[in-house]
This record gives sequence, structure tokens and C-alpha cells, in this order.
Amino acid sequence: MGVKTAVLISGRGSNLKALIDAAQGNPGYPAEIACVISNKPDAPGLFMARKAGIHAIGLNHRDYKDRKAFEDAIQALLEKYECELVVLAGFMRLLTPEFTARWYGKMINIHPSLLPSFKGAYAHRDALASGVCISGCTVHFVSPEMDAGPIILQAAVPVLEEDTESSLAARVLVQEHRCLPYALKLLAEGRLHIKGMKVEINPATVHTAPPALLNPPLEME
Ligand code: GRF
Repeated sequence: MGVKTAVLISGRGSNLKALIDAAQGNPGYPAEIACVISNKPDAPGLFMARKAGIHAIGLNHRDYKDRKAFEDAIQALLEKYECELVVLAGFMRLLTPEFTARWYGKMINIHPSLLPSFKGAYAHRDALASGVCISGCTVHFVSPEMDAGPIILQAAVPVLEEDTESSLAARVLVQEHRCLPYALKLLAEGRLHIKGMKVEINPATVHTAPPALLNPPLEME
């Protein structure tokens, strides 16, 4: 049994699925998905989690008088299921500074851009509009400021000339599904140490530098 982890979602849950597959498919995986909470009670991810035998709860944020009351309900579930870690996987509600402080160092988020560029809900649209040639995804610790906590891991993908928001999102999503389970593994193993805005991985994982991603590729050299 791994470290009990809650996953918070708002929709489809493909990142949640990647986490469940990692946790249930690898005997040595150090985290266990103990519960899934969605602020949208009809989120497809909830149904998928139940099929995988995981407690999955819909908590409609509109049923609560304010953000604090909603978060108190989340906190009660985290305690009920004895969760030590929290993963935000497409959770589209802002969390209060009180809640993020309470879980600082224990709560991570996946964002579909190379932070600190393109924070917020329209990362792919903003990336395309800016003309960047490379985008990607970021897993980071959650801090009070949205999409701004210490960065754990990033993956880069090329942005192609013919890209639409959905084609870019699909290319980034493939990397999200690799990064998030790996980041949770490092966290559950106690290998992540926050030093200011930096995250140290102990022991270090990278022994040789990965190759550079150039886009467009050079026609010389
Ligand atoms: C992902 O792109 C995630 O990075 C973003 O919202 C999307 C959620 O997708 N925050 P899914 O629900 O995990 O399929």
C-alpha cells in the first residue's frame, strides 16, 4: 500500500487515468489513489475512478456558501480517506491561501504550458497567439498564487505551424500523462525538497543532459 493520495478533478480525467494506471499497474508504485473529488458531480473522471474501485465524490462548489465552506468539505474528505498527498489534475477551481498553505509541499498541479509562461485556463490559445515554437507541460507544487509554485518537472513539445488549440493540447497531453505519475512517484518517495522556488530531487535523477529540442529543426550543421 502506497502513500494515500487524493486527486482533485473537474472533468474528463485523462491525467487521473494515467495516475490510476501507474498506481494500480505497478506493484512498486509508492502512492495509492485513495479518493477522487470533483467540483462537477457529472465529471466523466468520477465514473472512471469508480470503475477502478476508487472512492469518487462529487462536491458541487455551487452548493457551498463560499470558497472556505467548499474547501472545508474537501478537507473533511481528505481526512476521512486519510490522504497525505493531493494532486490537482485538471481541477478548475482556485484554492484559498489558507488551503494551499495547509497543503504546501504536499499538493501538486499539472499545467499545460511551460510555466511561468501562459498561466491560467487558456494556456494553448495563449501559446499559439504568442508565436512560441515550443510549448509543453509543467508539474509544480501548489502555492497561493495560481500556477506559480516551485517547479518539479517539465516536458517540451514543438508547436507546429498548422496547430490548432486541440492539436497542440493533444500533443502536450501525451507528455502530461508521463510527467504527472512520475512527479507523484518522486513526491511519495519523499525525494522532493523545496528550496525557495527550486525543487531538489534526491537522489538526482538526471545523469546525462537530455538532447535539446529545436523547432523548427536546423537545416544546417
Ligand atoms: C489538462 O490539460 C491539465 O493540464 C489541465 O486541464 C486538462 C485536464 O485534462 N489543467 P484531464 O481532465 O486530465 O483529461
